[in-house]
Amino acid sequence: MRFEDKVVIITGAGSGIGRAAAVLFAKESASVVVADIDQKKGLETVKLIKNRNEGKAIFIQVDVSKAESVKKMIDFVIKTKHKLDILVNNAGIYMQSNVVDILEEDWDKIIDVNLKSVFLCCKYAIPAMIKSNKCGVIVNVSSEAGIVGIKNQVAYNVSKSAIINLTKSIAVDFASENIRANCICPGTTETELVKEALNKSLNPEQSRRVLEEIRPANRLGKPEEIAYGILYLASDESLYTTGAVLSIDGGYTAQ
Ligand code: NAI
Repeated sequence: MRFEDKVVIITGAGSGIGRAAAVLFAKESASVVVADIDQKKGLETVKLIKNRNEGKAIFIQVDVSKAESVKKMIDFVIKTKHKLDILVNNAGIYMQSNVVDILEEDWDKIIDVNLKSVFLCCKYAIPAMIKSNKCGVIVNVSSEAGIVGIKNQVAYNVSKSAIINLTKSIAVDFASENIRANCICPGTTETELVKEALNKSLNPEQSRRVLEEIRPANRLGKPEEIAYGILYLASDESLYTTGAVLSIDGGYTAQ
């Protein structure tokens, strides 16, 4: 019951880490807003929560890279739920390339969906949190790729590393208004995003083994293992934590 009466928006909750977080928040009595660009996947998450009879969830379609769409999402939540307690900025996409080969439009797409989205969601959510509730919590999903430069994924690395400083900037700018902002840096986790990337490689099985072996834990993460960290940072158990970066990566960035 850690999140009883709390309203939480989770972007990208139609799949992977976002879906796992939505299920856990609902289990702990939050009122969950599943926000995703993909209506089918988003509704599947809502159904999953309702079928288990484990809490409240609604779906809202959003393109987090578009200001109008983000504004509508926040307005809708305030209109229907009358407040916003927690925002989890989790939606993201992945693409491989180096700085020479990447197309300009692909660079823009990654930066818009992974980084500008976090800026937009925070820009519109923070005033709504302060006005409706006089406090709020933001959890941003960065990556191990935000901490080190992982080979051949330059735009993704840059988008994720900027999320870390965006989180710290929000933390220092809004602490006086009772807004906390923290960041999770997952290591490679078994989700659609990783499956898709592996399927593009010449030998998916071998590529997967490489991803496992490069980290001390010698395995990939599970979506729930990342989601538990998100819940911790969103809960009152972390009331004194703001501007923090929590790595959950099987030890990859500790090496
Ligand atoms: P996923 O691909 O399973 O889920 C991402 C969700 O975001 C999908 O439901 C998708 O429809 C949604 N989405 C994509 N573009 C959107 C947009 N413009 N507006 C709204 N929703 C949109 O991905 P996964 O693996 O669960 O990743 C979640 C987050 O965790 C991402 O930010 C990712 O970069 C990050 N991450 C993932 C890691 C992994 O190994 N899976 C490792 C480190 C970070």
